[in-house]
Amino acid sequence: MPKTSKKPPLIPLSQPAIRGNAWKYVKECLDTEWVSSVGRFVGEFEQATARFTGSPHAVAGVNGTACLHVALKLAGIGPGDGVIVPALTFIATANAVTYCGATPLFLDCDERRFNLDLDQLEDFLESRCKKGGSGLVTPSGVPVKAVLPVHVLGFPVDMDRLGALCEKHRLLLIEDAAESIGSRWNGRHTGTFGRLGVLSFNGNKIITTGGGGMILTADPELAARAKHVTQQAKSDPDEYLHDEIGFNYRLTNVAAALGLSQLEVLPEFLAQRAKIAEWYRRGLPSVRVEETPPAAEWNRWLLAVQTGSADAKAELLRRLNEAGAQARPLWVPVPLQKPYRGAFSANIEKARRAYDTVINIPSSTSVTEKDVERVAAVLRDAALERLLA
Ligand SMILES: Cc1ncc(COP(=O)(O)O)c(C=O)c1O
Repeated sequence: MPKTSKKPPLIPLSQPAIRGNAWKYVKECLDTEWVSSVGRFVGEFEQATARFTGSPHAVAGVNGTACLHVALKLAGIGPGDGVIVPALTFIATANAVTYCGATPLFLDCDERRFNLDLDQLEDFLESRCKKGGSGLVTPSGVPVKAVLPVHVLGFPVDMDRLGALCEKHRLLLIEDAAESIGSRWNGRHTGTFGRLGVLSFNGNKIITTGGGGMILTADPELAARAKHVTQQAKSDPDEYLHDEIGFNYRLTNVAAALGLSQLEVLPEFLAQRAKIAEWYRRGLPSVRVEETPPAAEWNRWLLAVQTGSADAKAELLRRLNEAGAQARPLWVPVPLQKPYRGAFSANIEKARRAYDTVINIPSSTSVTEKDVERVAAVLRDAALERLLA
């Protein structure tokens, strides 16, 4: 008999954890045959999200990308407008700007947490932009209308400083909080600082609806508009009358049923992630842990380690994945991606270095202490600069 080498089970990077009332709620959709746009769960999921985040209003959508598109549109972003976005993000952030016909203006990230570099932003606004007709314009004449920060890996941006900068320069603030449900800055939930904010419930997020998103806003009119345009802008309950060009961006009852069940267990998931982070810290006693400032409450969506070079990163990625630990690099900075080559970009040296050296390590809610020990055993053999956990 040939010997079979048994591979250890895969330790997932960020996989869904389906718990609690998921089966009961989804079964209710199936039993009642309310599987599509009608049913109790969309409204209940929206209300529960509003309560959890402290947002006065929450409007569900088909995914985070679609919600970002609508949020930008409702904020008045259109052709010719410049929107500041971080270079280091998932491409959907920039794509949503492009869908509106607007121009993404890429800035660098900070070294510590990979969020938008607020020093560079301040310098860009105050030293590189000029006063134009109704506000600031870039050196090449693009009017700077808004900032779309991302809470990268779930870690909250310093919203006090960013909010003050936006106010000073009369810039709209819209938040890509796709990764940061459960994260707060000075006690306030991410996604609730801007005129609109967006959450994602994609399968790789802490809680999921399979695919889904949520628009947060304090403005009742914007919330009503968001509901309207995500449902084809139908203006009559019976007749097919539409008062503007809308989108089919609504969330289904089935997805919302799953979402509601997930939201109910989110506090447990967040507590579990704090434990996982603690296990990593204990497993890597000689690695420096990046400090979390007191104002930040981090959901720990994805934990990470930083190596010293691109070669070290590649080697460690290979070894982790070989050992069955699902590990991934950060995103290739967006202005280096084919669709955005030639777009405006500041110096993004720190985003390049982050991409070159950082690895996300298994962070799923289901990760056990034993799993962490297996991952840490590989990490202990590598020269690490720091641990973000
Ligand atoms: C920062 C960021 N923005 C936007 C999105 C898009 O969300 P969705 O996948 O729900 O469309 C994601 C990820 O999924 C993301 O990580």
